Amino acid sequence: MASLIVTGISQLVTPRRTGAHRGAEMRDLLVVRNAALVLRDDAIAWMGAHDEWSGEAEEHIDLGGRAVVPGLIDPHTHAVWAGDRLDDFEARCAAVRYEAILASGGGIWHTIRETANASCAELVELALPRVEALIRSGATTIEVKSGYGFSVEAELRMLEAVRELQARVPVQLVPTLLVHIPPTDASEREQYRAMLCSKLIPRVARSGLARAVDIFVEEHAWSAADAEAVLRCAQAHGLGIKLHAEQFHRIGGLELAIALGALSVDHLEACSAEQCKLLGGARTVATILPGVSLHLGLPPAPGRALIDAGAAVAVGTDLNPGSSPLFSISAALAFAVRLNGLTPPEALVACTANAAAALGMESGALIAGRRADFVVVESEDWRNLAYTLGSSAVHQVWASGRRVAG
Ligand code: NIG
Ligand code: FE
Repeated sequence: MASLIVTGISQLVTPRRTGAHRGAEMRDLLVVRNAALVLRDDAIAWMGAHDEWSGEAEEHIDLGGRAVVPGLIDPHTHAVWAGDRLDDFEARCAAVRYEAILASGGGIWHTIRETANASCAELVELALPRVEALIRSGATTIEVKSGYGFSVEAELRMLEAVRELQARVPVQLVPTLLVHIPPTDASEREQYRAMLCSKLIPRVARSGLARAVDIFVEEHAWSAADAEAVLRCAQAHGLGIKLHAEQFHRIGGLELAIALGALSVDHLEACSAEQCKLLGGARTVATILPGVSLHLGLPPAPGRALIDAGAAVAVGTDLNPGSSPLFSISAALAFAVRLNGLTPPEALVACTANAAAALGMESGALIAGRRADFVVVESEDWRNLAYTLGSSAVHQVWASGRRVAG
């Protein structure tokens, strides 16, 4: 077995359990100074203060006094798409609203048309550099949604592109089927929903092309009643469920997420103080997306109030062409501190342990026996990860015991 000792770690920082929180876990940070990490193959074999290590390792790397944190987890991306949204961007800069662009057949509809015209191979080539940028920013686990497909074939093609990407990148990609927007015509909507439940979701479940189903609950998208039917079908097929909800309006998405025991409810820019309390008592993770607030000029999701209410908050990039062209999970972490009122430790937990919980995964911490996914911070104090803007505080990224960036 190949073993490697990593020394010269000024701070080894990891979320730790502080008690069960109805499924998602509340954690604070453990900081070990002058630490060492011992890797064996793809896993962490030992971790602790360097002077407590008495074993032997075949290889040795000295990080020269840098901090190490767990590999970051981006629990929400739409990294597969074709075309661009630069015209939308320019229109929005001239005060045309995102929802108005969508309602007039542009926005997400534009990306659906462009994506429908792309082959699986083209989608992979377009998505690869985006995923690589996320990896360089510290991500070792990345959720990737479909949702620009609209037909069974086009949605499956997007998920097949994610499967192909899994073989091309050294980190974990977690695929999600996104039921994004319905046909504008009310009668077609009913048929489309029936098709989702009779064809698309069963095929995705059978083929293992996605682990969860997500749905966009919003005035210009799906109603909570339609979403309930789709999500119950997903659950009946053994898939996890997630929602895009309370982005612009409160139309029942958040309450549905809690009632159905969703893994996460994402966006929450329009979440009220009362709703923060509801999430505080739920096991559903509240995933907030500061890139959207920045790019669309939406009010930031109430991250501070959610945490104060007891909710488990995760942070994601929401990387997508329309509402969040943010290619860096460490930037999302830093923005969550500025925009959503998280402290630096809360933001690190949000991008590691809580992001893992939002994906239904038990990881996001440095623990002996677990996969050796970690980020070497440029400097001796890990807080530079939350502090630095406009440049990267990520020195190296390691996934499954191998250096994959830096
Ligand atoms: O997470 N809100 C809905 N869906 C995406 C945006 C998709 C797009 O604009 O292309 C989001 O913001
Ligand atoms: Fe999204």
